[in-house]
Amino acid sequence: MSNRRDFLKKSSLLGLVGLTSNLISNNQLNAIESLGNQAQTNDAFTLTKLPYSYGALEPYFDKQTMEIHYTKHHQGYVDKLNALKSTNIDYASTDEIKCTHIDKSTAVAVRNNLGGHFNHTLFWTLLKPNPLGIANKPIGKLNNAINANFKTFDEFKIEFSDKALKLFGSGWCWLIVNDKGVLKIVTTPNQDNPLMQLGDERGKLILGLDVWEHAYYLKHQNKRKDYIEAWWNIINWDGCEELFSK
Ligand SMILES: [Fe+2]
Repeated sequence: MSNRRDFLKKSSLLGLVGLTSNLISNNQLNAIESLGNQAQTNDAFTLTKLPYSYGALEPYFDKQTMEIHYTKHHQGYVDKLNALKSTNIDYASTDEIKCTHIDKSTAVAVRNNLGGHFNHTLFWTLLKPNPLGIANKPIGKLNNAINANFKTFDEFKIEFSDKALKLFGSGWCWLIVNDKGVLKIVTTPNQDNPLMQLGDERGKLILGLDVWEHAYYLKHQNKRKDYIEAWWNIINWDGCEELFSK
């Protein structure tokens, strides 16, 4: 519990400082730390504090969608996970490791709700406000790797957007590093992710986009393409660089 209290204290202090890209980067680390602490202390799963306000991602992600997405959808996965406490969840590991143990034999409720909680926790940390509409591009080693794998950032963007747009139904589009160290763009259905032992392409998560309709329907209705285009403006590339460099 002390670890968790420390995390909450840190979140409060950080909230007083204001929003900078470094702060979001710190929050990302805190979010990951929090997931680990939950596992170590066998606490109930909880929502990790957002590193910005619901309206901070305007005009790209609207305030109402963010609030409903976080307090209803993400909270729903957390609540359902906690209701599953009596099932065989290995609490002695981080949620990232728990995801790597999920396979086709895993109970569907555990797979969906653990995936939903983990994916959304990561998703929030890989967004950042951009109220001035400043050009938003990858940095550092990840930028170099994207250029080496996809020729240019623009070509990467086209391929990622196309896969996210064409994913049938609900799911996620990801940038991963596979077991050969190669960057790949992959999609997963529902709340699965490439950490799980489910799809053909598995690997370390660098970037993820939620393409469930609940992420965009209020603002963009059925126009997933508009939502994807808006998202490129608010990707937290500092956070992606940290994940890539780990
Ligand atoms: Fe979602």
